[in-house]
Amino acid sequence: MERNTIKLGLNALRKLYGENMTLSPQDACKMNREICSLAPIVPVLVVHDITTARPLAEALVTGGLPALEVTLRTPAALDAIRAMSEVPGGVVGAGTLVTPADVKAAKAAGARFGVSPGATDSLIKACEDEGLPLLAGAATATEAMKMLEKGYDLLKFFPAEASGGTAALKAIGAPLPQITFCPTGGITPQNAAEYLGLSNVICVGGSWVAPADLVAAGDWAAIEYLAQTASLIGKT
Ligand code: 3PG
Repeated sequence: MERNTIKLGLNALRKLYGENMTLSPQDACKMNREICSLAPIVPVLVVHDITTARPLAEALVTGGLPALEVTLRTPAALDAIRAMSEVPGGVVGAGTLVTPADVKAAKAAGARFGVSPGATDSLIKACEDEGLPLLAGAATATEAMKMLEKGYDLLKFFPAEASGGTAALKAIGAPLPQITFCPTGGITPQNAAEYLGLSNVICVGGSWVAPADLVAAGDWAAIEYLAQTASLIGKT
């Protein structure tokens, strides 16, 4: 049902704006809010070996984590986005967007959302021009307010633990309750529930559901189990 909503949203936007649509901050946040609502955890993935991409995505989606962030940190990342995008039920985005060229490449590879550690004017513009909904990183009240001023009220809180964790997010939420966050960076199975319990947190990002050793060993059953466990965090 939620997945259908996203498809309808994207198609409606394309009809509205045509081929060369510019995505407004409000529409970008609406699309990302739907994606972030699919599960409490968005896996943050570093794919080294393209042959692992599809089975990794299948394990995570089957385990209950449909929204996947593939970081642009390896030569295999763009091909991984292409391969993972073919997995039914998955919604694949690109992480570690730093330059407008990253945005173009991610969009061309089929990414449906973009994630960045911070935000620059050129990166924001590139995402709007390419129609790639951006989840931009912010770590302070001023950074969050600058994004809010541009129309972005859904942000990534990064690096979450190093920036003060749940205490910082709670403190930022008091004067700025209109901003919602996806905290990422240092989130673990142990602290995820505390983040998800905050009123200004919609989901969290984390790499623990796809440990490098399990990916290298091709232990997809173990990764599916990790995903299944993660998908239930904050729900009991
Ligand atoms: C990252 O920078 O790779 C992401 O924020 C994920 O961080 P994590 O490995 O601490 O989950």
